[in-house]
Amino acid sequence: MTTRSDQRGVRRSARRWKALVTAAVAGAVLAATVIFAQTADAASTLGASAAEKGRYFGAAIAAGRLSDPVYTGIVNREFNAVTPENEMKWDATEPSQGRFTYTNGDRILNQGLSNGSRVRGHALLWHAQQPGWAQSLSGTALRNAAINHVTQVATHYRGKIYAWDVVNEAFADGGSGGRRDSNLQRTGNDWIEAAFRAARAADPGAKLCYNDYNTDGINAKSTGVYTMVRDFKSRGVPIDCVGFQSHLGTGIDASYQANLQRFADLGVDVQITELDVQQGSSQAGIFATVTQACLAVARCTGITVWGIRDSDSWRTGQNPLLFDNSGAKKAAYTSVLNALNAGGTTTPPTTPPSGPVNTNAWYLLMNRNSGKALDVYNFSTTDGGRITQWTRSGANNQQWQFVDSGGGYYRLKSRHSGKVLDVYNFSTADAASVVQWTDLNGTNQQWRLVDSSGYLRLINRNSSKALEVQNASTADGANIVQYTDWAGNNQQWQLIQVG
Ligand code: G3I
Repeated sequence: MTTRSDQRGVRRSARRWKALVTAAVAGAVLAATVIFAQTADAASTLGASAAEKGRYFGAAIAAGRLSDPVYTGIVNREFNAVTPENEMKWDATEPSQGRFTYTNGDRILNQGLSNGSRVRGHALLWHAQQPGWAQSLSGTALRNAAINHVTQVATHYRGKIYAWDVVNEAFADGGSGGRRDSNLQRTGNDWIEAAFRAARAADPGAKLCYNDYNTDGINAKSTGVYTMVRDFKSRGVPIDCVGFQSHLGTGIDASYQANLQRFADLGVDVQITELDVQQGSSQAGIFATVTQACLAVARCTGITVWGIRDSDSWRTGQNPLLFDNSGAKKAAYTSVLNALNAGGTTTPPTTPPSGPVNTNAWYLLMNRNSGKALDVYNFSTTDGGRITQWTRSGANNQQWQFVDSGGGYYRLKSRHSGKVLDVYNFSTADAASVVQWTDLNGTNQQWRLVDSSGYLRLINRNSSKALEVQNASTADGANIVQYTDWAGNNQQWQLIQVG
């Protein structure tokens, strides 16, 4: 527990720190105005620039290449999301029935997490890259094996995955708009929703995506997917996002952005999941068009390219990526970075919460990443008492009431102590402590609610930072702090009304 003298020390050092930062920022602003006025906002890597727009820029990576320092250097420098190119697929994770191997999947996961990146999971169920034993099953035996696979793999990675491709490539090419024939499809048309329900039960924190190719414009195939997503949303089947692979040739469909937008309008996120573009005079331009389309669609949360260097690509000889075989940046790279930097610095608009909070009610706030509840540590009743996460007990020190401050801002009052959530000493720094304090209706005690696919982010009025579980911890007693809003699972909270 923090003592009073600790608190005084923190306040003193916070003031000193603030004075230093103010002086440093004033100096930096002056220097920037004089020297760098036109380029002050331009980030120099894809991930950093995308993050300025509230998005990620990722790459598919392969475990077998992680020992190559040129490769890993680019991954760590440029990208803030990773997808395993093959390592989390069915043949890799369950090579014989009921025997699960996660060694290479975990290598990709740890590569991403240790670099502060999001990890996209790819792919739980797919007609291709099935292990031999699954290929030879059918009917109920296959359905049960498939759902068990989803449950086991999603459980293994619970709390670590930003978004799962739950089902990959289940629609037919051509003009039918129908499902692809496959052993999975022959278990019954409801196999996709069964997979999504199993994934949600196993990892409630992950966004659940449907992912496909040749759906990158408005056409019969994408309309088939659209109709399925609309049906899922209307019946409450858990789906959060749609992935558009975007393996593109020398042209791009004129309806690319409009297609993303029509899916977003159904109430799901959209993501570009496997982008690569055939080499040619239009390559750089197509990469820019895709980037601009994503920035223009508020619910397009990020872009992933399918590999690092041309020599890493599955499209041998087509040189479809952003780095050449030596790891040098291509014109396509510059084109993407410029498009990202030209996109302005505002984060995408978010839809308001689906309904207003009930200011007469008491709520538990469950963290999306950890599944733990916002908690006044050790039932403190004093100013400065720590706020942590703890396993849900439903006790009064986990119950919170929203007190209206006007203008869309609320204080969160503890049922146990009567104190409110407070960013200590009006800090505006990342990782500053969130404590409880006497309700003074200060701007450091007021929070705006931002909808995150049914979860909420709480943005502090004074600092504009988000309430989060520090370091995405899943442990009891982990600190609650404020941090730059990047829509991480550890910044998202589910409200459960309990009184
Ligand atoms: O690792 C073995 C190697 O030991 C063996 O000698 C060699 C012989 O062919 O095969 C190697 O495995 C290959 C693996 O990639 C790793 O390189 C597989 O044969 C090959 O089939 C596999 O291809 C992957 C392909 O999916 C499988 O369909 C590609 O790497 C991967 O980029 C590609 O990714 C898919 C997405 O998952 C879904 N969307 C389309 C996309 C492109 O096809």
